[in-house]
Amino acid sequence: MFGLKQSLKALLCGAIFLASVSAQTLPNVAVNADFPNAIAGLTPDLISGEANDLKVTFRNTGKTDLKVNLIVGSVVEMTDFSNVIRNLTAYRYGTTLKADGTLILPYTIKMEHASREVGLTLMADIMDSSKNHFPVLIYNSTINFTEPIQGWIDIQLIFLYVVIAGLFIAIGMFIKDAMAPEVKKSVKKTPSMTPEEREAALEKMKVLDEDWIPEHHKKSPRVTKRRS
Ligand SMILES: *[C@@H]1O[C@H](CO)[C@@H](O)[C@H](O)[C@H]1NC(C)=O
Ligand SMILES: *[C@@H]1O[C@H](CO)[C@@H](O)[C@H](O)[C@H]1NC(C)=O
Ligand SMILES: *[C@@H]1O[C@H](CO)[C@@H](O)[C@H](O)[C@H]1NC(C)=O
Repeated sequence: MFGLKQSLKALLCGAIFLASVSAQTLPNVAVNADFPNAIAGLTPDLISGEANDLKVTFRNTGKTDLKVNLIVGSVVEMTDFSNVIRNLTAYRYGTTLKADGTLILPYTIKMEHASREVGLTLMADIMDSSKNHFPVLIYNSTINFTEPIQGWIDIQLIFLYVVIAGLFIAIGMFIKDAMAPEVKKSVKKTPSMTPEEREAALEKMKVLDEDWIPEHHKKSPRVTKRRS
């Protein structure tokens, strides 16, 4: 692990150094990175948070076999390529690139990033038969981070809004019902009587009662008991 880290650092530093050195020291390799769904002439898109599968094509125009050790990459600020946003996963291959041959290797970029243009630097570590390492620049330009396609999420959101709206309507109707003025029950008040009228009324009821009660029941219970 320590060795890999060291070699990556050496690779990145070496690339900057070699960029200013004569091209003769580099093996005869042409590289090209194909981005998924790329449109020629436009900034390639990378979907944030999703696996973006690139294809890196190596063409060896030399007379000796080479080996592609690994591909490293970093996402950088577009305005300053030395300002690293994220070091991408290094992929180790160790695949032979035959003399006068072509090799296509996959490289996946998966990271979350806000939708905007950033810089991307991809480099390969290539080794010759004498085990000399050469950093080869694959890509060093801008890419455009975009949001994943929202189709299904949108449908889910709309459904959620409908459910929430329905809930609010239900709550609203419940509150409306609870707040509505109650239908007043008409309480009929018996017209008040004067004491005389009440007395008369009571007297009348008494009379009626007594008339109704059979004769023998009117006798005092005490008398009844003695007789039996
Ligand atoms: C990326 O890697 C380089 C070299 O190993 C290191 O110096 C730098 O701090 C790293 N940057 C980030 C953002 O991880
Ligand atoms: C990559 O491109 C940036 C901006 O154009 C430049 O500053 C940087 O030196 C390039 N890096 C390499 C390794 O060529
Ligand atoms: C980057 O992607 C966004 C969202 O898809 C788009 O609106 C914008 O035009 C793109 N920019 C470039 C330079 O391609």
